[in-house]
Amino acid sequence: MSHALAPLYAQHIATLRERADKALALGGFDHLLIAASTPLRKFLDDQDYPFVANPHFRHWLPLTDAPGSWVVYTPGHKPKLIFVQPRDYWHVVPAAPSGYWVDQFDITIVRTYAEAVAVLPKGKRAVIAPACPSIEGVEANNPQTVVDYLHWHRSYKTPYELELMREASRIGMCAHRAAERAFRAGESEFGIHMAYLAAARQIDAELPYASIVGLNEHGAVLHYTHFDRTPPTQSRSFLIDAGASASGYASDITRTYAAAGHNDFQALIDSVEKAQLSFVAMVKAGQSYPELHIHAHHVLADVLREHGVIRMSAESAVQSGVSATFFPHGLGHPIGLQVHDVAGFQTSERGGSIPRPDGHPYLRMTRVLEPGMVVTIEPGLYFIDMLLEELRGKPASKDIDWAKVAAFRPYGGIRIEDDVVCTEGAPENLTRNAFTAS
Ligand code: GLY
Ligand code: MN
Ligand code: MN
Repeated sequence: MSHALAPLYAQHIATLRERADKALALGGFDHLLIAASTPLRKFLDDQDYPFVANPHFRHWLPLTDAPGSWVVYTPGHKPKLIFVQPRDYWHVVPAAPSGYWVDQFDITIVRTYAEAVAVLPKGKRAVIAPACPSIEGVEANNPQTVVDYLHWHRSYKTPYELELMREASRIGMCAHRAAERAFRAGESEFGIHMAYLAAARQIDAELPYASIVGLNEHGAVLHYTHFDRTPPTQSRSFLIDAGASASGYASDITRTYAAAGHNDFQALIDSVEKAQLSFVAMVKAGQSYPELHIHAHHVLADVLREHGVIRMSAESAVQSGVSATFFPHGLGHPIGLQVHDVAGFQTSERGGSIPRPDGHPYLRMTRVLEPGMVVTIEPGLYFIDMLLEELRGKPASKDIDWAKVAAFRPYGGIRIEDDVVCTEGAPENLTRNAFTAS
């Protein structure tokens, strides 16, 4: 794989150089300095939180473990990597740079964070780094003009990035298969999670986000990250939202399963899946993402009606907010170097923000889809006590079949999530392709 990536990577760096040239010119800067950043220390402790490298740094390099290192780019010059390789017998130090990417950089190896800072160029510098933890001797300025330009263009993945995202999906798919087997074998949430990690060959800290592994009613907790250590008496349903990383790129995958014999819930899953695939098919250049989200509300309301949960038209379910009781989150978000990637609301490369449609406070993407963008499509239907209680007090309550709601409540909820590339033609479904390729 490494060998095959070399030409794609060269093209990727050429693209990043062009973008950086424009961003620096717009902001009036001579140099782009990107910190990998440094580990964050726990309060009153000598331990650090898991290190996560600055996504801008990972955009240039497939290096996820290089604390204190810097990418330095000056227009007209080959990019530089100031690589910190400490003299340290307590820890494993980052390995010397090697692989398909090293030819694209002039590499300087130093031993300390301070030595790295000392060799950074002077002049008008755009320094892309977190404010905290600060790095002694250099101030992060994160100029808005530069950041806006870079974030906007991060929306358009290069062929190299797409290859890494395919890999992240392949790893996630293998791990999802192991998790489903563990569910069918009657494992606890904790046991399923362990099976997932083992198959992904990634530890928690390496995953792009905290896995959601919920049995039964736990599927109704949107961000359930608890992991019961003992299996329930009966495992009726299983919702898993878990991704994987590949050289700093994320996958974000959700599947929902019914145990054998739970036919009504399986039928509801089948309907959500059919709807989800129809939304994926609409990931096309020119499609407004918020319009797709609202369309999803209508289709999911129809699913609720077909399964006897509501007795109103899709239109009135959406108007009255009933669809949001059962589908209370956004249809999806941009994904890439971060699971919730940047620029989902941005108006243009000069910044700005496109507001969410009224009544949809959790939507994370308000842009029109264009080739090269990667978004998730993750509709869901849930039976969430808190939201159902609110609905009981509203006039629309009379059009709800509460007995049906009670019958579905022990299953928690359903979400089905794929990562989808918008192309010039048919969408590329990274997740489904990974599942069908094996
Ligand atoms: N796993 C987080 C999300 O689906 O957005
Ligand atoms: Mn997602
Ligand atoms: Mn997810």
